[in-house]
Amino acid sequence: MPFDETSLKTAAGWLADAKRVVVFTGAGVSAESGIDTFRDNTGLWRRFPPERFATLPGLLSLAVTEPDELARFLRAVLAPIAAARPNLAHLAIARLEHHVETTVVTQNIDGLHQEAGSTRVREIHGTLFDVVSPTGHKVRSLSRAELARMVAALERIERGPFKLPRLVRTVRPLMGLGRGLAHRPRVVLFGEHLAEPDWTSAQEDAAACDLMLVVGTSGEVYPAASLPERATDVGARVVGVGLETGYGDVWLHGKAGELLPRLVTDAFGDDVTRRG
Ligand code: OAD
Repeated sequence: MPFDETSLKTAAGWLADAKRVVVFTGAGVSAESGIDTFRDNTGLWRRFPPERFATLPGLLSLAVTEPDELARFLRAVLAPIAAARPNLAHLAIARLEHHVETTVVTQNIDGLHQEAGSTRVREIHGTLFDVVSPTGHKVRSLSRAELARMVAALERIERGPFKLPRLVRTVRPLMGLGRGLAHRPRVVLFGEHLAEPDWTSAQEDAAACDLMLVVGTSGEVYPAASLPERATDVGARVVGVGLETGYGDVWLHGKAGELLPRLVTDAFGDDVTRRG
């Protein structure tokens, strides 16, 4: 589908008039930072079926039966995130805060919205950077540098012998595999409740916004995918940005890293590609 200037102008006009914006993001917003999405052709779930890799019991059983497969999966998740930097889409979203009350609701666990400068971020599927106890209390934070060290160790495990003990030692900062499950990353796996208090806040934000930008999500995973509907129900306009077929009141077909800076420039005359 060709890029549509009229739709961009309409969306920019709505953004310029908006009082409260929610930006609802999925994996597509981080694709240009080098992090694969889940359901595109090279997506994570295409290579690692979620039935085996996206539940806690599945992961624990893999650790025992196929530690090298688990090491390969963990490396596929951690390596791109460890190396990622915010792209122009994250920066454009962060810049919105200079012009209008903005809340980011993200399904991503990569911390890139905060790194780009967004200050109100709801991480409804959790974050890889908080390690929590079984009751959900934060035990410690992780850094991208620690993730990078884990990635290097995982690579060595895939090549060497004694995989299970080495895997357990490597992922210990992320997952305590001692007596029962001592700690784990604050990441929502399949079949688990969304992260709180972020999910409750996200629903309130969606019900109080007058414009929602939906960026880089297939909208296939509920309950997260119900948020645009919630916005529509209260009369908010919904603008979609992404590579698939459109939905929302206006659909901007294209890459988030190209379209969002254009949108911010057209709405506010603010060039996101310049620093400051
Ligand atoms: P998906 O992989 O389902 O969808 C990503 C969307 O981003 C697709 O519509 C792509 O076309 C689009 N896309 C790809 N590159 C883009 C780009 N450069 N600019 C704009 N759009 C682009 O990922 P999510 O919708 O985020 O949950 O998936 C939702 C949830 O499913 C994830 O949070 C995760 C997963 O299972 C859990 O693990 C709980």
